[in-house]
Amino acid sequence: MVISVFSAKPYDRSFFEEANKNFGFTLNFLETHLTAVTVSLAQGSEAVCLFVNDRCDAEILRRLHDLGIKFIALRCAGYNNVDTKTAAEFGINVVRVPAYSPNAVAEHAVALMLTLNRKIHKAYNRVREENFSLSGLLGFDMHGKTVGIIGTGKIGQTVAKILSGFGCKLLGYDVFQSKEALDFGLEYVTLPELYKHSDIITLHCPLLPETRHLINNQALKGMKNGVMLINTSRGGLIDTKSAIAALKTGKLGYLGLDVYEEEEALFFEDASDRILQDDLFARLLTFNNVLITGHQAFFTDTALKNIAETTLQNIQDIAACTHCPNTVC
Ligand code: NAI
Repeated sequence: MVISVFSAKPYDRSFFEEANKNFGFTLNFLETHLTAVTVSLAQGSEAVCLFVNDRCDAEILRRLHDLGIKFIALRCAGYNNVDTKTAAEFGINVVRVPAYSPNAVAEHAVALMLTLNRKIHKAYNRVREENFSLSGLLGFDMHGKTVGIIGTGKIGQTVAKILSGFGCKLLGYDVFQSKEALDFGLEYVTLPELYKHSDIITLHCPLLPETRHLINNQALKGMKNGVMLINTSRGGLIDTKSAIAALKTGKLGYLGLDVYEEEEALFFEDASDRILQDDLFARLLTFNNVLITGHQAFFTDTALKNIAETTLQNIQDIAACTHCPNTVC
């Protein structure tokens, strides 16, 4: 079977080529995103393999269907970028990799918390300039602080596990309660209660119509002054304009982002020789209490190996009509 792998970076290529030794598919690596213009590059393939910023709307799905594509294999956990209803109507199966390494993302979320708290990003630059002043680097003990975890699935639970080791008090909000999270000492509360009592709030729920702009002016108003907000889930969970307004008043004391609602036009590429056109992103970069990484939370060798192996196994399973536990539709 020929699989067109869109948005393929050199690191994708090396992990997929290694994993493919056990499958023997023909992999057609394409550097470009999947768009209405590039969709024709999938011609001759039976499957396309997509990443987070490959947009798969109804029109693109129609074109993929016309090209004879039967399978869409997402090499990520979230599937908000695929119109799954239309995919099902065209009889295109969609599979994903739900848990390639919850540790990778959870550890990155905690890294953002610690870096913002202890101002490691500032200290790194100061020491390189032989500035050993501690002024402005004051942090706080994580021990005893209250952390609100929104979404206590695989990643949220892992964050709970790590932070229970730090001695944090854990509050959680989810539409389903997790026994594992309860075992780590997390207490489920309503969203307003979580906002009211948390010193740090970290987002680990999916982007859905009902969670879009979950963090908006109203939600921020209910939070503690100087709260730390971490988002390693999906950019659309935060209304960026509201976050900027809250940073300006000090309501938001720290903001750590690995995702951004308009990241599609920015992340995963070297744009250092271009003029930044996104004014909201540019404003975020001006705050010294905002730390942004470019969707790298998943980016560990363990995760990339698991992603490649699971993606190819998913395709083999659905092509053979055997049960695939990672089917989206
Ligand atoms: P999961 O499916 O195990 O957990 C998601 C949790 O969110 C579930 O417990 C679910 O019940 C809960 N949830 C659903 N709707 C909710 C709502 N309205 N309010 C509160 N909770 C709700 O997913 P997992 O593996 O923990 O991933 C979480 C998210 O992390 C993914 O949706 C994905 O967007 C993001 N992610 C980001 C990565 C990165 O590199 N930055 C890498 C992998 C995932």
